[in-house]
Amino acid sequence: MRRDHRQTVLSASDGIDDLRDINWTFEGTDTKSLTHGLHNYPARMVPKIPDTLVGHYKDQGVIDEGDLVYDPFSGSGTTAVEARRHGLNAAGNDINPFAVMLSEAKAIPLERGSLSEARDSLVNGLSQELRDVRAAYDQSGEVERLEMPDVRDGWFPEPQLHELTAIRDRIDAVEDESGEAYARFFRVVLSHTTRKVSYQRNGEYKRYRLSEEDRSEHNPAVESIFEKKLKQNIEKMRDYANRVDHELDTTIHYSDSRTAVADVGEDQADIVITSPPYGDHQTTVAYGQFSQDPALLTGEVTYDEMKDVDKTGLGGRYDVLESIPELEEHSPTLKATLDTLRGKDGRSDDALDFFRDYYAVMEQVAQVTKSGQPVVWVVANRTMSRVTIPTHLITRELCEHIGYEFDMNLPREIPTKTLPWENAPENVEDATGDLMANENIVILRAP
Ligand SMILES: C[S@@+](CC[C@H](N)C(=O)[O-])C[C@H]1O[C@@H](n2cnc3c(N)ncnc32)[C@H](O)[C@@H]1O
Repeated sequence: MRRDHRQTVLSASDGIDDLRDINWTFEGTDTKSLTHGLHNYPARMVPKIPDTLVGHYKDQGVIDEGDLVYDPFSGSGTTAVEARRHGLNAAGNDINPFAVMLSEAKAIPLERGSLSEARDSLVNGLSQELRDVRAAYDQSGEVERLEMPDVRDGWFPEPQLHELTAIRDRIDAVEDESGEAYARFFRVVLSHTTRKVSYQRNGEYKRYRLSEEDRSEHNPAVESIFEKKLKQNIEKMRDYANRVDHELDTTIHYSDSRTAVADVGEDQADIVITSPPYGDHQTTVAYGQFSQDPALLTGEVTYDEMKDVDKTGLGGRYDVLESIPELEEHSPTLKATLDTLRGKDGRSDDALDFFRDYYAVMEQVAQVTKSGQPVVWVVANRTMSRVTIPTHLITRELCEHIGYEFDMNLPREIPTKTLPWENAPENVEDATGDLMANENIVILRAP
């Protein structure tokens, strides 16, 4: 039988010389293996993408063990996890404090014995404590010793919210005994439990509440949800920790990648692998909204930090950069796209704001990365006002203006993804092949 290698899911360990020979769809591969499965996050990168890229560039001698992989949009830390799996250090940025916590929880391995000890002190006596909390709540409608989190009113069944808060306090106590890394790992389990317990509808990234009828029947068992996820995550962490070097470093900065050089430094990264947001958080993926209540329940993140996440994302309303009137002159595709939008309903300003911010990150990444090293942007082509935004072409052109050298563009279909925006473009001039792909992997070399 003739074997079509393009249809085979390959990783770099299969010795593929040319990245164009790989089927980047990776349909059917497990995206929750190892610590990738610790917690959900919107628009996660498929782990096989950084896995394959890092493996390939290692094989080619472009990067080496001990080098630094940088991701300016760390999200849930997919790049950082894969970096460590390949023996590399990782750095990243994110403006979502919950993403920072999650990335570190996933990428920093924990010692097996210490994890078991920390788990034991967390769960010993938990059942009794939760029974006491429910009893106190049943009696008086409150539990005096608990300082309740600042979550949205009407989004949680009540006795359960108190139970979640009691678990938060137990994790704080574990932190004192076992240290921050162990507490962080448990906070991720608590966050998962919080989402399941709340009235948030499953599978949605925006705030959608269960119907009133469904809410009245929603009576989740906090302890069993928490313990089930705890067990799963411990297994995943053990598996990961057995395979990776514990001496490597992972540092995710809770800061804006539009000013990344200040945190990461110049000429530090040997490779960059990142997936930027598709557009501003308000109209595409609301990362802050997704994370807010679970993050607040962890006790490590404040309401003030969370409420601004979606406004601080690229193209958002906070920390607005100076406009760059000539930006569209640097990218013919951006100019053509903005002209099409201008002929419609004026969303060209929103698009321009987004690309101005994205351009600032491209400039910072150019400084953070060693000259000539690979910089990989995994981008999606969203639509605005039914006009496709060819982000892959704009990425290439803006980067080239900064002095990056274009290497290649790899189109990729997303097997089963519902894109979080209308996907019905009316027209894009010069639209060809790659535009129809859901995502493109744009590879350049740093200036
Ligand atoms: C597409 S997600 C990254 C997903 C990630 N690759 C993963 O696998 O989980 C984009 C991320 O960029 C972050 N972000 C948006 N604007 C940012 C900015 N100005 N600086 C740093 N991070 C930002 C968002 O909070 C979000 O976590």
